[in-house]
Amino acid sequence: MEINSLQLNNLRRLSEISSFLSEPIAIEALKYTLTVEDFERKVARDLPVVSPGHVTGVSLLHDNEARISFSSGISLRVRAFERGMRLTWVESKIDTGISDRLLKPAKLVQEGSGPVVLSNGSFKLKVEDDGTIHYLLGEREFRRDDPPEFVGDGFRQASSIEESARIHGTGERAMNYDLRGSLLKMWNHDANGSYGSFEDPLYISIPVYIVEGEVTYLVFHNNPSQGEIDMDFNHQGMIRARFSGCGHDMFIFPGSLKEVLRCLRDISGPQSLPPRWALGFHQSRYSYMNGDEVMSVARGFKDNGLPISAIHLDIDYMDGYRVFTVDRNRFVDLAGMNRDLASMGIRTVAIIDPGVKVDDNYSVYREGLRRDAYVKWPDGTYVNSPVWPGNVAFPDFTEEKVRDWWGSNYEFFEENGISGIWHDMNEPAVFPVRGDNSLPWFADHHGRLHRDVHNIYAMHMARAAYEYMVKRRGERPFILSRSGWAGIQKYSAVWTGDTESTWDALRITIPTILNLGLSGIPFAGVDVGGFSGSPSDELFVRWFQMATFLPLFRVHSSKGSRPREPWHFPRHLEILRKYLRVRYSLIDHIMTLFYITRDTGLPIVRPVSMEFPGEEVLDDVAFMLGDSILVVPVLQPGQRYRYTKLPGKGHWYSFWNGERVSGIVEERISIQDIPVYVREGSIIPVRDGERLRLHVYTESVAEGSLYMDDDAVDPRYAFWTFRFRVDGNSVEYSVFKEGQLDTDNEFVCVLHMTSSEGRPVTREFEVTGRQGGLTLS
Ligand code: NOJ
Repeated sequence: MEINSLQLNNLRRLSEISSFLSEPIAIEALKYTLTVEDFERKVARDLPVVSPGHVTGVSLLHDNEARISFSSGISLRVRAFERGMRLTWVESKIDTGISDRLLKPAKLVQEGSGPVVLSNGSFKLKVEDDGTIHYLLGEREFRRDDPPEFVGDGFRQASSIEESARIHGTGERAMNYDLRGSLLKMWNHDANGSYGSFEDPLYISIPVYIVEGEVTYLVFHNNPSQGEIDMDFNHQGMIRARFSGCGHDMFIFPGSLKEVLRCLRDISGPQSLPPRWALGFHQSRYSYMNGDEVMSVARGFKDNGLPISAIHLDIDYMDGYRVFTVDRNRFVDLAGMNRDLASMGIRTVAIIDPGVKVDDNYSVYREGLRRDAYVKWPDGTYVNSPVWPGNVAFPDFTEEKVRDWWGSNYEFFEENGISGIWHDMNEPAVFPVRGDNSLPWFADHHGRLHRDVHNIYAMHMARAAYEYMVKRRGERPFILSRSGWAGIQKYSAVWTGDTESTWDALRITIPTILNLGLSGIPFAGVDVGGFSGSPSDELFVRWFQMATFLPLFRVHSSKGSRPREPWHFPRHLEILRKYLRVRYSLIDHIMTLFYITRDTGLPIVRPVSMEFPGEEVLDDVAFMLGDSILVVPVLQPGQRYRYTKLPGKGHWYSFWNGERVSGIVEERISIQDIPVYVREGSIIPVRDGERLRLHVYTESVAEGSLYMDDDAVDPRYAFWTFRFRVDGNSVEYSVFKEGQLDTDNEFVCVLHMTSSEGRPVTREFEVTGRQGGLTLS
């Protein structure tokens, strides 16, 4: 595509004002944009709209499966499971990674005459002659789907929603925890360096939502194509889903929040267990520019007594941003540097983008060409579009042979002593001069349209990396991905991308991470301090304090922003050190939560109302770490006191001083701490170096668990469940252990009590064996 001199002049001006478009990239950006627009005109087409018509027959195919045929020739296949149903109008050929294999089938019964009624027991579908579907629990209707309209390969459909119901999930949304009233795009999107609250879409869109109302249920559209879900934007009591491809295949599960999350886990896959080091603290920067800088950051942590697990290398470690290369001028001996870091107990995580620089002298690019790995235009030529290195080609991760090839390149990381991999720009992001900043809908992925695979692109990239690392390294991988789709949790952690450094962005992080958890993605974090900008000391400290309790704890920042290593906040260094130590003291607890989430789908960080229904006011401003720690971050500058209504009727203990409180508490707030409480009846494992103690918070009964393993892919593990009964000075306990990890069954416990003067006191004692009793002295 040729460009004229007027366009060139405009571009020069554009590249002067834009930080990332250098002139040569701007020229490529224009060429790319014009190519997209040219194809767009050529491939535009009118799409036929088809309705189901009338029911012409019903057949029970298997015990748990029925087919309802319609006069249009379309049929609806219904499969029944113990906890819900799968309704497939039109199947799709795209490998979304979603499966009903783990769901327990239930007998499907056809009831009565008149409209078709299919039931798995208590949950019923009533299908009317025109394809309207009523969903009932017992006799209560909680949802109605209007007949779908099939538009091209996609569909649109409106569904009713109960008046008081709230909506959660849908992937990554910088919005309130209740998404009702929003219009959500399903198209993974690079926010271009910065975003604030209510920007949409962001990097992870998943068409899963939980309606929490009189009847709570989860809907999953097994449809990664470009779409939109209107969550009752016009307050007409309707949800409207629209997808441009991939047929119409949906799951619906009624049940409690916890029950439906288990179903989501079963269809999208379990959270993988991370390596233990990944749960520690990560320090990142765009970019540490050379080996000396990295080593001085590492020494800074050691010299200041600050625990750290990983340092991240952003794109400037690469040679001209070519993936799987090193800039040897900046990182003269990358492997040697990583050995030095390893000897200090620090891992390295390196970034990698999907785009491969178009350069005939570059072996990775040539190899991709040889293997026909790249995405193409409809005319069979390769898509070349500008990103950091100039023009790149995009591997098609939806193709198995491409995943295998891509994964094999990760040997590069192994050779250079890099432990963790950071996937960025994998929506994938490109730099056009106008229009959407990804590949266009018609780009060709080995016969599949980009429209249909865009949202699963990053998930398949993570899959390529994970499968290689597990097979070849035999280690538990740590992969961090910006973009994703349902199931990314099997392979990777995620972070919330280029957040602004504002108080508002700090606040919105809470519901964003909660909704990710309710979309099946528990392992999530945020750039502490916000990515794009320079937080004040106070904002940074508050962000750091909050992130101490998030599954992923990483500081990262954009080029040109104020440095973020803790010693650049000298007045607050003591506080940051304390919170780093708190993080490491909770690592066993967090690992235990990973084990629980893997098996149950329960998020690591949970909305308060999941544990305490009826306490919705806290959902946007606080969160629970597991079911027992309540974190109420400070979200406003200069806040000195506040009233918090602690959830439930029971007692809580201050995490900081053990004080026993309940109901409405007046919190005196200093910069030292954010309020954190432990729920009465909990047991929290707390580590102090080599020593692990079980903190028992009760004056009557407490229950908790601990998971430990040998960090292997297929680990030898131990999972203990503890029960304590306390009555004055006497304690009875039972310990139940499962798993084959050989450990001694002795635990030091710290019982949190209140003295007769009302002061918090602790008593330490040991427990051994499976059960016993003792009297505290
Ligand atoms: C965009 C990412 O979101 C950000 O974290 C990273 O620093 C830059 N790309 C540069 O790689």
